[in-house]
Amino acid sequence: MNKMILLPLLLLFSCQDTPYQQGKRLYSAYCANCHMDDGSGLSMMIPAISTSTLTYSPEFVCLLYKGKNDTIFEGNSFLVKEMPSFKHLSSTEVTNIINYVNHSFIKDFTEKNILETTRDLENCSKQNHLY
Ligand code: HEC
Repeated sequence: MNKMILLPLLLLFSCQDTPYQQGKRLYSAYCANCHMDDGSGLSMMIPAISTSTLTYSPEFVCLLYKGKNDTIFEGNSFLVKEMPSFKHLSSTEVTNIINYVNHSFIKDFTEKNILETTRDLENCSKQNHLY
């Protein structure tokens, strides 16, 4: 193979498992304790991200912005499912987390950009219902 092509490829694959290093760091700091490193979740308590249908929609941004709090009734008991809000993150950080998650856990990856995230954030801050 041509050296000009091989070198960048080697660099890309040898040092990093993801091009979204900030997203990876933020995911490890803020998400992995609940959703696990591989996005598989924790049985009944924490949904898997890897099989979520939400990840490419603007609602993912809203979920990170507002958090979510569901109570599931099962027989005579109930289960509180609570995801905290990550309002303090900038749209750059949110974009990097979403790209890291989608690139690592979901097939058919398309990159999200900061402008899209900013627009999604504005739209969900206009809705006053809790996500
Ligand atoms: C304290 C535990 C906790 C943390 C930390 C957390 N989550 Fe969640 N997450 C949850 C719970 C619980 C739900 C389900 C909420 C519900 O249904 O009410 C959820 C739902 C989700 C969903 C939707 C899954 C689906 O399809 O229903 C996604 C995507 C997600 N989280 C991503 C993230 C990301 C990315 C982060 C880090 C920025 C994060 N979560 C941090 C607990 C957590």
